[in-house]
Amino acid sequence: MELDDFFALIHPAIAVVIVFPLIGIVTHRAWQVRQRRLQLANGEKSKIPPIVGSEHVEIGNWLSIGVVGAAILGMAYPIFSRFLKNDTFAKDPLRAFWVTAMFMITTATFTFLFKVKIKTWRNIFAAATAIGLLLIGAQPEVFRRDNEWFFSHYYYGVAAAILMIFSVAITQEIYRDKQNRWRYIHIILNCLALLLFVGQGMTGARDLLSIPYSWQKEHLRQCDSKTRTCPPKAITSFVGDR
Ligand code: HEM
Ligand code: HEM
Repeated sequence: MELDDFFALIHPAIAVVIVFPLIGIVTHRAWQVRQRRLQLANGEKSKIPPIVGSEHVEIGNWLSIGVVGAAILGMAYPIFSRFLKNDTFAKDPLRAFWVTAMFMITTATFTFLFKVKIKTWRNIFAAATAIGLLLIGAQPEVFRRDNEWFFSHYYYGVAAAILMIFSVAITQEIYRDKQNRWRYIHIILNCLALLLFVGQGMTGARDLLSIPYSWQKEHLRQCDSKTRTCPPKAITSFVGDR
């Protein structure tokens, strides 16, 4: 396997090995938190230990780091591999510098989100991280699938990442709000996030299927995706190379 292909696999591998198991754990804890709260509210005794709440939040923080990290990595690979291929650092140094700075600033604001306790600063760092992701995603190197945005790995991924950032930002509010409004907002938004994660699994697997090994690209470039045909020579040389 070429080095280029290896780098292309880092993002999907991290998503499958780290992010998706975390989604399972966080969702299970979320279910337990809810069951326990409803049982206690009904005056029943609960067999679920009280620690599930803090475990949900602790692993939830890791999940949001995983999802935002996966989104950053998912965009870093196409952007920097194309920058190197097209010599963008020499031809368009201003944009190359600005995009590199955006990666660093977004990572920094996301780190600060976990460090600060004051609500205003949490909101500022959460908003800055979300804007950073959108600015990085606006680069022409990122394949956004704008004409099929409703089944786009990019739009689902960035939306899920922003929902995770929002969950971290409102953690204190969920605990403080005695009327549980923030709790219900959190549940509704994160049920949507769960659907987006299912979509990420499907669209990610689809996109992997459509990206060939680097040695195949030359041959497959001759194929026409509209008519779904390849010139006979391309097919022969493709099969012959395997
Ligand atoms: C897959 C993603 C997630 C889902 C489906 C989810 C869902 C839930 C559910 C159902 C509850 C219980 C609500 C109730 O008491 O009825 C809950 C509680 C909570 N969640 Fe999440 N959540 C997710 C991720 C996160 C993340 C990333 C954070 C932030 C770190 C977070 C922070 C909280 C907090 C602070 C509570 C209250 C816990 C308590 O009462 O002790 N959640 N969540
Ligand atoms: C929560 C999990 C995930 C998030 C937040 C996420 C996010 C992203 C983002 C924002 C991009 C850049 C936009 C794009 O090229 O579409 C991307 C690219 C990609 N992702 Fe994911 N992704 C996740 C899971 C997965 C999974 C499970 C797979 C495959 C099994 C996958 C495979 C890919 C592939 C193949 C690319 C294209 C990279 C390229 O353009 O060369 N992703 N991802």
